[in-house]
Amino acid sequence: MEQVRNDFVALYGSEPEGVWAAPGRVNLIGEHTDYNDGFVMPFALPHTTVAAVSRRTDGRLRLHSADIEGGVVELDAAALEPGTDHDWTAYPAGVVWALREAGHPVTGADVHLASTVPSGAGLSSSAALEVVIALALNDLYELGIPGWKLARLCQRAENVYVGAPTGIMDQTASACCEAGHALFLDTRDLSQKQIPFDLAAEGMRLLVVDTRVKHAHSDGEYGKRRAGCEKGAALLGVDALRDVAHDELDAELERLGELGGDEEVRRLVRHVVTEDHRVERVVALLEAGRTREIGPVLTEGHASLRDDFRISCPELDTVVDAALAAGALGARMTGGGFGGSAIVLAEAADVETITKAVQEAFAAASFTAPRVFEAVPAPGARRLG
Ligand code: GLA
Repeated sequence: MEQVRNDFVALYGSEPEGVWAAPGRVNLIGEHTDYNDGFVMPFALPHTTVAAVSRRTDGRLRLHSADIEGGVVELDAAALEPGTDHDWTAYPAGVVWALREAGHPVTGADVHLASTVPSGAGLSSSAALEVVIALALNDLYELGIPGWKLARLCQRAENVYVGAPTGIMDQTASACCEAGHALFLDTRDLSQKQIPFDLAAEGMRLLVVDTRVKHAHSDGEYGKRRAGCEKGAALLGVDALRDVAHDELDAELERLGELGGDEEVRRLVRHVVTEDHRVERVVALLEAGRTREIGPVLTEGHASLRDDFRISCPELDTVVDAALAAGALGARMTGGGFGGSAIVLAEAADVETITKAVQEAFAAASFTAPRVFEAVPAPGARRLG
């Protein structure tokens, strides 16, 4: 934090009014369910984006990042317009735009950022960036907006200002997660339940494997999946795929076929409906203290994303296959797909063997070496000082 504060002083010539942090996330289970009004279960990573921020009253928005070359970018808060900024600054600027559009009197800011959230790794570096700005401005301008609502404004920034049609999971995870817990979120009404998730106490670990395959070019594919899900819901006559009952899935898929839904739409529907059910199964298992049994459910989720939703890639499949062959309890891709990261649930004693097996499988396939680290549920966004 001191470094960020000192860099702010060097850049802008005065102490920041405060320093805030917002984390990246991994999603334990519940993928591509959030824009179908379904269930998700992310937890926050210890990796954060930190922002030193001061208010301005002259309408200027000055943005600087320690991680990106190019110096200070200066914008006019009142002139921000969706779709005009295609740089990293679109995320923080989009949040200022969303706050102002919602009627909040944000009259500018000086911002300096530094992040440890790997970007393009499917670990929500964008959400961390949005949420840290939203929280800082919420505090400084005394807007009194609760965390779940800040997440909504950040999602609006991403959907409308940046132009990425994402759901609400990542921003809510960054804003609302708690240390030692996974967040069971119903994305229809945004109700939340913090589920204790202390693997170390039970002799287990959760590994994150960043495949180094950047998923940044996936927006078009993400949008296509989303449109396919919406088509499925419309054909079935429901508001969202969340409303398709899991125990009527076979009959509903048949009905979908009769209504003109092709094989691709049927597969998307099957993934979403079974994935929502997997989240509920994982919550029930965790609440019953049967933590090891979530492993196979995670692995099932991967198969569904690979075969039905079709958003995996050879590197993600390699992590899952190698980890399972080396004794992992479960493994799956996490996040939007087409690259990014996978998670592996393992007995603590097996972590080394599994890590080595994954690294060797990558080397054998001539893939770039993956980055492997252990993830323990960390706190959500907060003021540091
Ligand atoms: C990305 C999006 C989320 C969610 C996931 C898939 O991370 O930002 O809203 O849709 O993909 O679960």
